[in-house]
Amino acid sequence: MNLIFLGPPGAGKGTQAKRLSEQLGIPQISTGDMLREAKAEGTQLGKKAEKFMSAGQLVPDDVVIAIIEERIKKADCQKGFILDGFPRTVPQAIALDKILKNSVLRIDSVINFRVEDPTLVARLSGRRLCASCGRGYHINFAPSKQVGVCDFCGGNLIQRSDDHEATITERLKVYNQQTAPLIAYYDQAGLLRDINGDDEVVVIYQKILGAIQ
Ligand code: AP5
Repeated sequence: MNLIFLGPPGAGKGTQAKRLSEQLGIPQISTGDMLREAKAEGTQLGKKAEKFMSAGQLVPDDVVIAIIEERIKKADCQKGFILDGFPRTVPQAIALDKILKNSVLRIDSVINFRVEDPTLVARLSGRRLCASCGRGYHINFAPSKQVGVCDFCGGNLIQRSDDHEATITERLKVYNQQTAPLIAYYDQAGLLRDINGDDEVVVIYQKILGAIQ
């Protein structure tokens, strides 16, 4: 099954994609995670992406399209994949259509997470990640047992550099201008499945399972 998770920053795409990836045994392909890894490794790609990410802007289309084209060819995508955070612009969606057409693959569903801005801001500003194992927490909605310490590996919990309020505001603006037009794009293609993402994590997960069946 080939899925796209579409939605604003903080909508819960990553949280839900991880669960579904484990249940279906297909990879979660997050362009955000891949770019952050490149940044941490100090590669040319990471250095190029850094200035866009820290400003809350999108990384140029050609850069992310090349990443996805290479990733989708890998053997673990044969059984399917979840695209988490790609595409994010209409040119990216058009490029994806071409890549899939050449590989004789197709998208089965696009899950569109709908969440209001005040909830998104609360989720993003309270998000914490383990610096060692990458596990995600939220200071109010999914807190660790001990403040600042990962329950699983004891690593330090850190805040993403783009999860500060000024950058969050910019990311939401960029989403509305550049990514929201994809809702109409995939609706016209008959692939859009709308989900109210303002609910408990487990409830949303059940809605996703219902939408993809
Ligand atoms: P990326 O990493 O993709 O960030 P994003 O889309 O902004 O999404 P987030 O990871 O912030 O949110 P999410 O929806 O995954 O929410 P999560 O599940 O973590 O991209 C970062 C940057 O990389 C971009 O700004 C851009 O610069 C660049 N980039 C990436 N892809 C690109 C592309 N295709 N083109 C160009 N540039 C690109 O949840 C958030 C928090 O809420 C967590 O703490 C979680 O615990 C909590 N939470 C989740 N669900 C619930 C719930 N139901 N109830 C309560 N709390 C919840």
